[in-house]
Amino acid sequence: MYVCLCHGVTDRDIRAAAESGIDSMRQLGKELGVGRQCGRCACTAREILREVRTSD
Ligand code: FES
Repeated sequence: MYVCLCHGVTDRDIRAAAESGIDSMRQLGKELGVGRQCGRCACTAREILREVRTSD
């Protein structure tokens, strides 16, 4: 599903980014643009990052 509509970023994109080492919203914003526009996706994006981090 789309998490960030402003930048067309899906939960899979965020998971993939997290798996490749991105572990903060700041980095995620830099790489994918997530949270950089309206900010509505920030909460969900943060949660996905946390999920990936705690799943290994
Ligand atoms: Fe992500 Fe707007 S939905 S910045």
